[in-house]
Amino acid sequence: MSRTSSYTVDPARLEGVVNEPLFAAVAAEAATRGIPAFAIGGFVRDRLIGRACKDIDFVVEGDGITFAQAVAERLNAGHVHVFKNFGTAMFILRQAQDDLQVEFVGARKESYSRNSRKPEVEPGTIKDDQERRDFTINALAISLNAGSLGALVDPFGGILHLDQGLIRTPLDPDITFSDDPLRMLRAVRFANQLGFTIDPVTFDAIKRNARRLEIISAERIHTELNKIIATARPSIGFNLLRDSGLLQEFFPEFLELAGAEEKFGIGHKDNFHHTLQVLDNVCEKSDDLWLRWGAVLHDIAKPATKRFVPGMGWTFHGHEDKGARMVPKIFRRLKLPLDEKMKFVQKLVALHLRPISLTKEEVTDSAVRRLLFDAGDDIDALMILCRADITSKNEKKKERYLRNYDLLMRKLAEVEEKDRVRNFQPPITGEDIMLAFGIPPCRAIGDIKTVIKDAILDGRIPNDRQAAWPLMLEEGARIGLQAQYTADPGPARPSTASA
Ligand code: CTP
Repeated sequence: MSRTSSYTVDPARLEGVVNEPLFAAVAAEAATRGIPAFAIGGFVRDRLIGRACKDIDFVVEGDGITFAQAVAERLNAGHVHVFKNFGTAMFILRQAQDDLQVEFVGARKESYSRNSRKPEVEPGTIKDDQERRDFTINALAISLNAGSLGALVDPFGGILHLDQGLIRTPLDPDITFSDDPLRMLRAVRFANQLGFTIDPVTFDAIKRNARRLEIISAERIHTELNKIIATARPSIGFNLLRDSGLLQEFFPEFLELAGAEEKFGIGHKDNFHHTLQVLDNVCEKSDDLWLRWGAVLHDIAKPATKRFVPGMGWTFHGHEDKGARMVPKIFRRLKLPLDEKMKFVQKLVALHLRPISLTKEEVTDSAVRRLLFDAGDDIDALMILCRADITSKNEKKKERYLRNYDLLMRKLAEVEEKDRVRNFQPPITGEDIMLAFGIPPCRAIGDIKTVIKDAILDGRIPNDRQAAWPLMLEEGARIGLQAQYTADPGPARPSTASA
């Protein structure tokens, strides 16, 4: 088995752990109570591969809640949060640098009922606890007990798998995944995050059990999906999601992108691969999760808008608008936030074709101004997406497109410097218009404001009040309004009425 991980496993990294105050306190409490205690899970894994970790889990062969309270007292830590149903307790340990989230649980034998995640729990040994965990690399424990203090407890070959870069379940994977089907997504997430391979037996079980994801909440699913999207190369995770059958269970629209049809010898690109390439490209430039989501969804409506037009070939007319309309539906189903973040993603999808149309030589300032106005502060994110969207294999073509975008970006900067439309604030407010014509809030106010905005964006008047005032008077007169005064008295003071 070849290693795919970029991490080196070094057991020497565990040396000295037991002298750190938290671990020393747990060991002392274990000795006082005469019950075995262990550090376990992600912390041990991450320490062995030299990766930072902000939460530490402990297992004790006894009551985890009272144990946590005693340790917190020893360390003068703050409040202990108790989760009685799960038999766990947690406190935050304040540190000079990052705070640590410390959690305790009593070792347990678990069996889950088929239709829910709620485990039926019985007290157990450390080995019972380890075998009910998701993967061998996550089942590693460090003993905090006299006689074996600091020793690695590894009954399932976790350290070997960590070294081999292998994701494998401690038990028969059908059992591990039926205990908690979310673990199938976690397998993909860890493979993607750590650069590991999913063991073939484990992977086959994921394929067999993919349908079981149906009992998992959308929140837990999107948490894992977001972690995949947050990796350096999410294409790896998405390909695994597709090959395992998991993607179909929660994101069928994305799977629809796959495939390249051909008619009369004319094909189109496979939009699944293209989208993943765009996503990876964006990830090289930005850590912003929602910009990354913009990449995921930018072509999502291509399958729904695809047509073969004789003489033209394949078209995806309107996929940006339809795609923007699909965003809320997908976000709602995945229980992703329906707030500004979603609007940002929608905006990126809706506007992702606009910059390319502006890379022609003869582009007008007015078109550039309109793009700045529509994109606002999201223009930089949009440009990252558009540059990432160039996935041509022809290097010359790619260079040419990128050069065109460089020109456009210069033009955007010039126009913004001159006209300040990126954060457009109307130079004449609704209040100004109501006072000038002595009218209550009504449609005419919006119409006049639109005329002024269009005149500015088209470059017919500069973006200032002095130029906008006479246009307001002119437009008011045209629609039959009587001005109360013609000289500009200065900006109106806002009142409760507004347009
Ligand atoms: N675990 C599990 N099954 C799950 C979730 C978690 O067996 N569905 C176990 C694993 O042993 C895991 C530990 O609980 O190591 C802690 O879970 P969590 O904090 O979610 O994962 P970490 O491994 O710490 O990794 P990360 O913080 O990256 O999520």
